[in-house]
This record gives sequence, C-alpha cells and structure tokens, in this order.
Amino acid sequence: MTLAFFNGEFLPTDSLVIPIDERGHQFGDGVYEVIKIYDGTPFLMREHLVRLENSAKAIRLEMPYSIERFEELIQEGLTRAQLRDAQVYVQITRGIATRLHSFPDVPPSTSMTFRPSKSLTEETFNTGIKVALLEDERWYNCYIKSLNLLPNILAKQAAADRGCFEAVLVRDGYITEGSSTNTYAVKDGVVYTHPANKRILNGITRAAVLQVAQESGIEVREEAFTSEFLLAADEAFLTSTTAEVLAITHVDDTVIGTGTPGPVVRQLHAKFRKLIG
Ligand SMILES: Cc1ncc(COP(=O)(O)O)c(C=O)c1O
Repeated sequence: MTLAFFNGEFLPTDSLVIPIDERGHQFGDGVYEVIKIYDGTPFLMREHLVRLENSAKAIRLEMPYSIERFEELIQEGLTRAQLRDAQVYVQITRGIATRLHSFPDVPPSTSMTFRPSKSLTEETFNTGIKVALLEDERWYNCYIKSLNLLPNILAKQAAADRGCFEAVLVRDGYITEGSSTNTYAVKDGVVYTHPANKRILNGITRAAVLQVAQESGIEVREEAFTSEFLLAADEAFLTSTTAEVLAITHVDDTVIGTGTPGPVVRQLHAKFRKLIG
C-alpha cells in the first residue's frame, strides 16, 4: 500500500493535512530527497540523507530530525506500508507561517511518501531512450536539491512534447545535466560528465557509477562538454535514483553511436545492478 507522513504522524497518502500556509506549498521553500528501496533494503540511504542535510544547510534550514532518526522513520514507514520495492520521498520545508518572504520563527515541516517503485522496464534499458536538448534556465545553485523545480518541470514537459524521455540541459553551450538526471558522454572509451559544482546536482547514483567505472578500469573525466561533443559521442547515458543507468541512443534527431546501448553503458549498468544486489 501507499503511506504518507507529516510532522510526526503516519497517514494515508490522500489525507488533507498540509495547511494553506505551509511554506513548501506557498514558496517551494524547502529541500527533498528520493530514496529507492530494493527488496526491503534502502539503497544508499545514508548518502541521500547526508545530501538532504547539506541541502538544508545551504538554504539555512534546520534539520527536523537527525539522520539516524530519519533512517528509523523511513524503516518504520516501509514496515507499516508493507513495501519491499519502494520509493520514498522526504521533504523538509521552513514550516507553517503566515505568508511573508523572510524566515518565520517556526519549526520546519517534514513530509514523506512511501509508494511502490515505478521502475523502468527491461525493454527500456535494452533499447535506450531519446532526449531533447534544451536551454538550462535554472538558478545558479543547482547543487541544492530544492523543491523549486519549475524550470526542470517545464524542460521535462517540453522534452515529452517532442516524444523524448528526458531533457538534457545546455548552459553557455555546455551540457550540465538532465532535468532530473545526470548526463554522460563516452568517447574513445572515456566517460565524460560535468564536474560536481554549483551547476549540477551531484547525483548519488552519479557518485556510485563513477566509482564503479573507476573500479572497472574505465577512465572518467569530470569535465564539461559541449552539445556538439555529445552529438558526436560513441555512447551517451544518464543516471538517477529512479532511472539507474540508462543509455541515451538519440538526441533530438541525431543518432548516438550505433543507436543502441553501447558496451560501456551496458557494462556500467550491469555492475550498478550488482551493487544494488
Ligand atoms: C536535477 C537532477 N540531477 C540529477 C539527479 C540524479 O540524482 P540521484 O542520482 O541522486 O537521484 C536528480 C535526481 O532527482 C536531479 O533532480
């Protein structure tokens, strides 16, 4: 079943519990995480919660619970919902207060949802996907996993309108990342991806996959590359908690490599699956 949590209470997901003055609702004034659960085990949960803490710190928001307490609450939610393959969203906001931009003197709010996983099909992994190139119109602090996702939503929808799975974003001619994924190009056996600076969200999957690549003897260069470089790549792929490692076979009308998932992405996906267990 599905389950929700709001400020200390587990509730049905359709409960009407968010007050009108909740700052997540009014301003998107908060940060979030998504954690995937495979066969009852949260994958890289500690890493996600550390990033949540860092995102909160970056917007001067107090963590409502310690990382250890979050881990307990997530386990409790999974047990209550009887979910073994799940995705858990955790959101913290600056709380409930009459609308005023400056920080209110109120405790932060925590909401969570526990739902069955929405995994991609094996066919999607086997065939790869198409992406659309779009201008990166986001702010300058993309390293914060902020609730403010309007530019990401608009880019994802523009990509969907063109029949694409994802929008790959371009800032000043360079690929930053996808609307909800990190982006990679492979040329001559070397994996290229944008450095983890303020221009991208430093994906938890990204870190795991780069480590897997290095352990497999695949060279990784954390260097920004242009859209022309991506179009001429031998292979391309994206990563995220929900999409894992997924081959990009088409960028708009350009076929990447052979138009099917190449050897590097297939190797990385297989090794990433092993890591999941
Ligand atoms: C903008 C953006 N980049 C990258 C990612 C991938 O991050 P992760 O691997 O931690 O899921 C996400 C995930 O939601 C994202 O929203």
